[in-house]
Amino acid sequence: MIEQIKNLKAEIASLQATSADEVEALRIKYLSKKGVINQLMADFRQLPPEQKREVGAPLNELKTLATDTINALKEALTAADDMDPNLDLSRSVAPLPLGTRHPLSLVREEIISIFSRLGFTVAEGPEIEDDWHVFSALNFAPDHPARDMQDTFFIMRDPDILLRTHTSSVQVRVMEHAKPPIRILAPGRVYRNEAISARAHCFFHQVEGLYVDRNVSFADLKQSLLYFAQEMFGPDTKIRLRPSYFPFTEPSAEMDISCNLCGGKGCSFCKHTGWVEILGCGMVDPAVLDACGIDSRQYTGFAFGMGIERITNLKYQVKDLRLFSENDRRFLEQFQAAHL
Ligand code: DAH
Repeated sequence: MIEQIKNLKAEIASLQATSADEVEALRIKYLSKKGVINQLMADFRQLPPEQKREVGAPLNELKTLATDTINALKEALTAADDMDPNLDLSRSVAPLPLGTRHPLSLVREEIISIFSRLGFTVAEGPEIEDDWHVFSALNFAPDHPARDMQDTFFIMRDPDILLRTHTSSVQVRVMEHAKPPIRILAPGRVYRNEAISARAHCFFHQVEGLYVDRNVSFADLKQSLLYFAQEMFGPDTKIRLRPSYFPFTEPSAEMDISCNLCGGKGCSFCKHTGWVEILGCGMVDPAVLDACGIDSRQYTGFAFGMGIERITNLKYQVKDLRLFSENDRRFLEQFQAAHL
C-alpha cells in the first residue's frame, strides 16, 4: 500500500488540465466518494494496527496533495478565463475623467491674478457678519433701504447678526486692523433675499478691491480698472465711468466696458448701446476711513466691487445665473478648455 501511495503522489503531482470539465473529471477520479483516495481509506481501515501507524501519515499527505493540486488547477483555469485573449496589453488606458474647475472659480482666480500684478493681495472676512461691518461703518444711514428685511437675511431675528450682502464688509475689517498702504482684494460669497430667477439669486459672488495710501487719486482708480478690463476682456476694451451713488464712496461711479460681443458697435447683448456695466467704484468716503480708524486727513483711497457671476456671464455668455449652482455636468464640462 505504501508503494501504491507513492506512485499516486507522483501521478497527482504531474496532473494537468485545460478545461473545467477536465478538472472535474480529475476531482471525481481522485476525490469523490468512490474515488481512488476514498478507496484507499477504506482499505486502510481494514489494516492491522501496526500497519495503520505506518500508512496513516502518507495517506493523509496524499489526500492533501490531491485536494491542493486539483484546487490549484481549478483556480488557474478561472484566472485564465478572466484574461481576454484579444486583450491588447500595450494599449494606453481610457482617458480618466478628471473633473473641471467651476467657471466662477476660474474667473475669480483670473481677477485675483490680474490685480496681484498691481500689488493687490487677497483678504477674507466672515459670511455671517454684524451690522457695523456690512452697513454702519460703510456710511449706510440707519434707515437705508439696503438694511431692509427684503434684502438682507438676518440670523435668528437678531437685527445685528446677518449674512453679508456685499464683500465691502471686508474693507472695514481690513482697515480696522491694518495701516496704509493697504491694497487688498476680497473675493467671496454674498447673500440677498431675492427670488431665484435667471437674473437673480439669493447668493452670488463678489470681488471687492481697496487701495488706501497717501495721495491715492481717482486717476489711479481709473488706470487700475482700465488695466483690469483690458487684461480680462482683451487689449481693445474701452472703459466708461458714469457718475453713481454708493454710501461708502464719494465720488462714486459705475464702470461700463465696450461690449465684448460686438466690439462696441451695438448688439442685442448690450441692448444696442455698445456698453455693458461691470462694476461699481469710487473714492473711499472720508467718513468710512475715519470710522475704521484711518486718518482721512492723511490718507485717501479707492474701492471697487464687482459680481463674479456678471464677469463670467460677459466672458462666457452664461445667460442663466441658476446654472452656476445646479452642478449639471453638461454645463460644467464645457469649461475644460478654459483651464489652458
Ligand atoms: N458693494 C457694492 C454692491 O454690492 C459694490 C461696490 C460699489 C463696491 C462701489 C465698492 C464700490 O467697493 O466702491 O453693490
